[in-house]
Amino acid sequence: MGRVKTAVLISGRGSNLGALLAAAKAPDYPAEISLVVSNRAEAAGLDLAAMAGVPTRVLGSMRELEDVLATAGVRLTCLAGFMRLIPAALAERWRGRMLNIHPSLLPAFPGLDTHARALAAGVRLSGCSVHFVSAEVDAGPIIGQAAVPVLPEDTAETLAARVLAAEHRLYPRCLALVAAGRVRWEAAGLVWQAEPARGQLLNPA
Ligand code: GRF
Repeated sequence: MGRVKTAVLISGRGSNLGALLAAAKAPDYPAEISLVVSNRAEAAGLDLAAMAGVPTRVLGSMRELEDVLATAGVRLTCLAGFMRLIPAALAERWRGRMLNIHPSLLPAFPGLDTHARALAAGVRLSGCSVHFVSAEVDAGPIIGQAAVPVLPEDTAETLAARVLAAEHRLYPRCLALVAAGRVRWEAAGLVWQAEPARGQLLNPA
C-alpha cells in the first residue's frame, strides 16, 4: 500500500510543518505530505514547503478549503498552527481524518493565549496535545500528549519554546499512527490497534 497522502494547513511560521516534512523523509514513514495550504500568502511555512518540493495553495476564502483538499486527493489533513475555525460540517465530513496540535494538555486551556493562561493558573506541568478535529474547537478525541515542566522563571515565551520542542516530537508520531491505521476514531471513540501504540504517544523522546 502506498503512503497516505496528507495535507498540512498552516497560517504562519510552520515549525510543526517542518517537523512533519522531516519525519516524512524516512522511506518507511506511512504518510506523505503532498500539499501545504495556508490562509495567509505571507506565511513563512510556505517557503519550507517549497524548499521540500511540496505543492502549496493559498486560500482566498475558507469556502475553497474542501475543494482544494478533494482536488489534491488527500486522505488526511493536519492542522499545524492554522488560525481559522474549521466549519462544523467540514469537521464532520473529515471525522477521523483531520488532526490538530494544540499547545496545552487538553482539556485544559483550549483556545488562544494558552501559555499566558497556564502561567496565570499556576500549573506545574504544561505540554501539547494532538487530537482529532471535531465540530467543537480543541475538543476532539486526544491521540497523544507530551508534558513539560513549568519553571518558576518562565514567561509565556520560554514556556512556548519548551512546549514547541515537545510538539515537534509528538506530531510526527501521532500522524504516523493514524496514517498506519493503528488508531481510528469510531462511533464509540478511539480504537487502538495494539495497546503499545498508545504508549508511544505519551511523552515521546
Ligand atoms: C503551535 O504552538 C501549535 O501548537 C499551535 O500554533 C503553533 C504553530 O506553530 N496550534 P508553528 O507554525 O507550527 O511553528
